[in-house]
Amino acid sequence: MTTGRNTVRDTEQDGDGLQDDRAATNIRWSRGRQTPTVDPVTSENDAPQPDTDTATDPSASEAHPDAIFADPRLAACYDTFDGERDDLDHYESILEELGARTVVDVGCGTGALAVRLAAAGLSVTGVDPALASLEVAHTKPGAGRVDWIHGTAVDLPALDPPLGADAAVMTGNVAQVFVTDEAWAATLTAIRAAVREGGHLVFEARRPERRAWEEWQAETAESVHEVPGLGQVRSRPTRFDVDLPLVTFADEFFFEDGSTLTSTSTLRWRSETELRDSLTAAGFAVQEIRDAPDRPGREFVVIARAA
Ligand SMILES: C[S@@+](CC[C@H](N)C(=O)[O-])C[C@H]1O[C@@H](n2cnc3c(N)ncnc32)[C@H](O)[C@@H]1O
Repeated sequence: MTTGRNTVRDTEQDGDGLQDDRAATNIRWSRGRQTPTVDPVTSENDAPQPDTDTATDPSASEAHPDAIFADPRLAACYDTFDGERDDLDHYESILEELGARTVVDVGCGTGALAVRLAAAGLSVTGVDPALASLEVAHTKPGAGRVDWIHGTAVDLPALDPPLGADAAVMTGNVAQVFVTDEAWAATLTAIRAAVREGGHLVFEARRPERRAWEEWQAETAESVHEVPGLGQVRSRPTRFDVDLPLVTFADEFFFEDGSTLTSTSTLRWRSETELRDSLTAAGFAVQEIRDAPDRPGREFVVIARAA
């Protein structure tokens, strides 16, 4: 999915499966830390919003994650759709290079990186507004070593004691869900507050000049996946709007039980200059912009230091 695209709008049962039962799973709150009072997730909060609404709210803490991350049936598909996560090897080695021991994974999703880092002995906090994705993360081996927070980066500065992380990461092009400049700035400023002086932010974003959306637009065929616990899940693209720097696309998903879900999402492309300027404004100094070895020429892999 790091080079593909995927999100969801629930067509059949609005709010279906988005039940929040904090008591049932203990994934939302970090061990031993006071966490901010985030509004309980009810179906309204977590129901998919109009497609350009992913992260338009300036406070960003009111994020409405796309249902592919927030709908339990589709969150369960994420790891299968994404396949081998060789894209994460690079982040592990960069964090090692930086000597990071405490890491916050912003937009951690189903926790693929967070559990890997925790297994390697790092102290990891994973934060994501999509409860269903956190519930998938929580089922993974070693998930108990991670502090899972149901929220967004904007909730991090309120943590007590403060995180003071050595590094923050955003993988899987999380950076592109922040459609507005306000939401992006609010997220970067919050991450800056959650990282210690001299700490780092490492994230990726697709290079606009690579025009990845043209490849996606050409992908009209139906795809079929065998998803554990769900059986065969078919999906096909149903909509594509390019209104740069925004690209909106929709896919429809077909489940074995006859139910379908239509997904819609909007992603934002930012130029290198926009990324550099927004990082500087949030108190980071860009140390380096690298290539993603598993996706050569496609991504900015940004390493920024908390100035
Ligand atoms: C493409 S997934 C990437 C997940 C994970 N980082 C990975 O590499 O597998 C994008 C993630 O961003 C999350 N997200 C959406 N809006 C967000 C926001 N405002 N703040 C933080 N994360 C957000 C989604 O819930 C989803 O889990």
